[in-house]
Amino acid sequence: MKKKISNFWVALAVCIPLAIMIAISSYSVTLYRLFCSATGANGTTRRATSAPDERGRFITVLFDTTVSPALPWRFVPLQRRVRLRLGEETLAYFEAENLSDHDIVGRATFNVTPEKTGVYFKKIQCFCFNEQMLHPHQKVSMPVTFFVDPELDRDPNTNDVNEITLAYTFFRSIKPDQAVELGKLNTVPASEVGQQIFAVQCSSCHELTRDKIGPRLGGVFGRMAGSVAGYPYSAGLHGKKFAWDAKTLNTWLSGPQAMIPGATMPVQMQDVQERAAMIAYLRTLKAGE
Ligand code: HEC
Repeated sequence: MKKKISNFWVALAVCIPLAIMIAISSYSVTLYRLFCSATGANGTTRRATSAPDERGRFITVLFDTTVSPALPWRFVPLQRRVRLRLGEETLAYFEAENLSDHDIVGRATFNVTPEKTGVYFKKIQCFCFNEQMLHPHQKVSMPVTFFVDPELDRDPNTNDVNEITLAYTFFRSIKPDQAVELGKLNTVPASEVGQQIFAVQCSSCHELTRDKIGPRLGGVFGRMAGSVAGYPYSAGLHGKKFAWDAKTLNTWLSGPQAMIPGATMPVQMQDVQERAAMIAYLRTLKAGE
């Protein structure tokens, strides 16, 4: 009899904290997220080292961001959504800017909805794994590499899902001493970042090996400006007597018409880091590739 009672108390001692945890996590979204991002439980995303070889059906991932009122940062996704195949490794960008005059450390928590898809949403690289420090008015773009596991389609509970939302909330950090500098965390090579931006902002007009609306860009780094034979340059750019290098490309991409009056490229890149990434990418392109 005594034995039974003690088993009962042991069971109770185990169940009460569990019940409290379940109650808290289902009633408080924020606590739930904090709890889950601390423990890696279902509903938050998993970390992975590489994407599988398999490619499945298309799915849409939407991005959402929130900043805690206590954190004077601007934090936005650089794309609202991406469409990708299950198993396909994808890169998305977020941008954070410290609007204050002080160094500030932030920490992101994240969640995916529907929550049942969380186990299949895998991040390979993410600023959310650490605390982040931004200097006064520093602005950085932050990449997240992820894929959605093709297993999602084999789980009867999730195989009807066509859209997943990845949501981040940035909080002011409670332990600023553990911060890494956000600018230094970005381990994706700049040229890869540039390649992604090229696909979004340049590829409608430029290809690498043939002329389109704009001239071919394979081998542009080091090439004389306005020199692709047969391409109908504007009078301003045609036969210019300088080569494209980091400096001239930077000026061109900041504003083609400001550099060369009459230039017909209707695009400019305002962000200095994005220009640097683009130049790093253009530098890797050989002619004829
Ligand atoms: C809407 C079309 C369009 C888009 C988008 C565009 N370009 Fe261009 N680009 C042009 C045109 C047209 C020219 C030729 C300009 C002229 O003759 O004045 C050009 C010229 C250039 C040149 C000079 C090449 C040479 O042979 O001298 C570079 C470098 C360049 N673009 C890079 C880029 C990059 C990088 C992007 C993406 C950020 C981009 N362009 C986006 C239309 C575009």
